[in-house]
Amino acid sequence: MLVTLILLAGVSSTLALDNGLALTPPMGWLTWERFRCITDCKKYPNECISENLIKRTADRMVTDGYLDAGYEYLGIDDCWLEKTRGPDGRMVPDKERFPNGMKAIADYIHAKGLKFGMYEDYGNLTCAGYPGVLGNERLDIQTFVDWEIDYLKLDGCYIEPKEMDAGYPSFGKLLNETGRSILYSCSWPAYQEDAKMLPDYGSIAEHCNMWRNWDDIEDSWASLTKIMDWFGDNQERLAKHAGPGHWNDPDMLLIGNFGLTVDQARVQMAVWSILAAPLLMSVDLDTIRPEFKEILLNKDIIAVNQDPLGKQGLRVWKKTDRGVRSRLEIWSRSLHDGSHALAFVSQRDDGIPYAANFSAEDMQMAQGEYEVQDLYKDEGVRQWNSEQDFEVRINPSGVKFYKFIPKTSRAASQSSSKSESSSVFDPVVSTVLNLS
Ligand SMILES: *[C@@H]1O[C@H](CO)[C@@H](O)[C@H](O)[C@H]1NC(C)=O
Ligand SMILES: *[C@@H]1O[C@H](CO)[C@@H](O)[C@H](O)[C@H]1NC(C)=O
Ligand SMILES: *[C@@H]1O[C@H](CO)[C@@H](O)[C@H](O)[C@H]1NC(C)=O
Repeated sequence: MLVTLILLAGVSSTLALDNGLALTPPMGWLTWERFRCITDCKKYPNECISENLIKRTADRMVTDGYLDAGYEYLGIDDCWLEKTRGPDGRMVPDKERFPNGMKAIADYIHAKGLKFGMYEDYGNLTCAGYPGVLGNERLDIQTFVDWEIDYLKLDGCYIEPKEMDAGYPSFGKLLNETGRSILYSCSWPAYQEDAKMLPDYGSIAEHCNMWRNWDDIEDSWASLTKIMDWFGDNQERLAKHAGPGHWNDPDMLLIGNFGLTVDQARVQMAVWSILAAPLLMSVDLDTIRPEFKEILLNKDIIAVNQDPLGKQGLRVWKKTDRGVRSRLEIWSRSLHDGSHALAFVSQRDDGIPYAANFSAEDMQMAQGEYEVQDLYKDEGVRQWNSEQDFEVRINPSGVKFYKFIPKTSRAASQSSSKSESSSVFDPVVSTVLNLS
């Protein structure tokens, strides 16, 4: 039995996409969540998918500190194409909105020290009805290479989900053969989950740097918590496939837009960091309010997201008092230095912050003494001994996000043996399975 476990663990770590990219979860900015398919530049000159939007965002990413914080990819999502291909069969960027073509955009982005992301769709059409790559794969990949892109999101509209098990890998092989390093973001499992198929995440991790697992995120707390609930409920299938070079993707950050309060935005940043999720902003960087910008630029939280161990965290505890909207949760991630990031999330809507005591068992923490830092810096540093309860007070639809740093050798050695254990047979995973 032990031999089998070791063999399986070995296999899982070697079969992963090995293009040297995304060794930590990709960080950047993408048009879709905030700017969708706005194409009318006369009516909405600042919001339409255009050269203007991309250039002004590139400027902001550099001058306002986002690039320094790690947000390096700047990506155009759907709605950048003309509706028909050119006479040579090539994709043509919208002539009014991208009058200088895509190579000019790439040059602008690269000159700023950023990387350039593009979007296409594996099917006949993109989701918004523009030409897809099906039947033109080689030509389109060559075109992307000519434009010097660094990141490609390949969507999955207008193609049967069952075609994807072969289609996404063969497209990835063509990408690889160009010799250009292009981060490969797949929508493959999202369509298969939606079709109630069971995606082969082993194969997906072997062929993609990141993959959208499930529903598109929408600009609301309801959508955010639905996605969090789904990732928690399915973590046993998903978490073990994440690691350096290959990540689950719960979708873009809503932070700074219309639908989330500051507390709710803090929840997304905390849980996305526990999940080792790509951090892809989608917000107007010219008008974002300072309190949201501060969340996006929180260095201690970004460090949790980018932890080099690359181990996806888990929802380790949950309790529902009176219906789904009154849930309390603990999310925990083991970090490379033996410490743990713990997010205490409240989905409650009572009018006051909710206070509760948690035991070391609730938090799945090894015995010992810890220094506890509040990553949002509302509270000072605390000392905590695992024999005591840990008291937390959480705002309605909010989070408290702490880093637990072991102080005693016992806690440290237990923590580090935990983090070194195989991601396939993790003691934390098995405890969670017993609970749920
Ligand atoms: C894609 O287009 C081709 C040619 O029109 C058609 O035969 C095929 O059925 C289409 N595939 C899908 C999945 O719509
Ligand atoms: C292509 O794949 C090989 C084998 O996995 C890898 O070593 C190489 O870095 C890849 N090249 C590119 C450009 O992605
Ligand atoms: C948590 O436990 C401490 C120590 O026993 C106690 O003083 C405090 O009132 C408790 N808090 C809650 C919210 O139960």
